[in-house]
Amino acid sequence: MRKLRNRQWLLKSRPEGQVATHNFGYHETEIDPHQIDDGNFLIENKAFLCAPTMRNWMDPPSKNLYPSISIGTPILAPAVGKVVESNNKQFPIGSRVSTLSSWQDYEQIDPTGRPVNFVAEGLSSVESIGKFGLNSLTGYFGLTKVGLPKAGETVVISAAAGATGSLAAQVAKILGCRTIGIAGGREKCTWLSEEIGLDGVLDYKIDKLNDGFDHLCPNGIDVYFDNVGGAMLRTAVNHMAKFGRIILCGQISTYDSDQAASGPEDMMRLIYGSIRMEGFLTRNYTAEFPEAIKQLREWEKEGMLTLKEDIRDGFDNLPKSYLDLFTGQNRGTLVVNIRPD
Ligand SMILES: NC(=O)c1ccc[n+]([C@@H]2O[C@H](COP(=O)([O-])OP(=O)(O)OC[C@H]3O[C@@H](n4cnc5c(N)ncnc54)[C@H](OP(=O)(O)O)[C@@H]3O)[C@@H](O)[C@H]2O)c1
Repeated sequence: MRKLRNRQWLLKSRPEGQVATHNFGYHETEIDPHQIDDGNFLIENKAFLCAPTMRNWMDPPSKNLYPSISIGTPILAPAVGKVVESNNKQFPIGSRVSTLSSWQDYEQIDPTGRPVNFVAEGLSSVESIGKFGLNSLTGYFGLTKVGLPKAGETVVISAAAGATGSLAAQVAKILGCRTIGIAGGREKCTWLSEEIGLDGVLDYKIDKLNDGFDHLCPNGIDVYFDNVGGAMLRTAVNHMAKFGRIILCGQISTYDSDQAASGPEDMMRLIYGSIRMEGFLTRNYTAEFPEAIKQLREWEKEGMLTLKEDIRDGFDNLPKSYLDLFTGQNRGTLVVNIRPD
């Protein structure tokens, strides 16, 4: 095989506050497909998931547990691709896998250094990273494993019209919970109440959340699924019911700022309310992915789940598509598809 043209989007400069297109730089290299280390394989990326937390990876190295992308290197991103060369019998040429890759056409993967999952039978690359990918699994595992909701309890979900939030909201409904969603703007709130059938919605851009929680959660919030953090989290903490659970999934309101994500104002509320606040990472449940994907596919087939994907086409569109996550312009899981299956 001759050398392969490899397009890349690099981290050109670290964002100061809001990430912008000028923080990314386009570059081209060549890859020699024969130079694959023992145990590694080469993937041709097909599609990338735009994950809000990638913004954290653009910050300088810190004491946090997440990686920091070095200046001048490709943007790390969850991806799905096809194995085109291999020095690892477990991942033969032609295998379809999802893993942590980066914004480039080809990447040599060392499977001992990162989780690699095979694409489930019958799913396209885009479906495997979109509808049935990380965000849906996050909504599912966060709610069921960390939130432990019981039928009849009140569940509140922030960024509820987004990929993770809308999945968590629908699973909460399936489990028989009174489910309240928080989202930005009338269109998203109407979708949540009329199409998804939530029991209540709050538009954080116009509604006062304190009053909204008083009205919609008179007995308090049993489970709060936190995708947003910041002031929204602090307000929700003040409305938690006794023995409530706060699922710390994400803190998107803080990613695009220089400030660290801060927590509740008064920890005594958690103590006297016997409230559990627990962070999690979806990859903690990797062994259970196939079973969860099977369940989500069944629910979708039975019409119990609406899984929204927002698919953009073209490698060139990666940076500007990514920015849409922070202005609420995405409508569901944001995937950039760079080549057909
Ligand atoms: N723990 C894990 O393993 C894990 C895995 C995946 C994702 N996550 C987290 O899950 C959350 C959702 O991610 P996603 O990929 O599903 O994205 P998403 O919800 O589809 O898109 C992000 C949405 O967040 C809302 N948003 C953005 N900035 C906001 C702000 N300042 N205040 C309030 N809302 C804001 C916007 O919706 P509105 O129009 O409603 O504002 C936007 O559409 C993120 O916090 C992400 O980091 C965690």
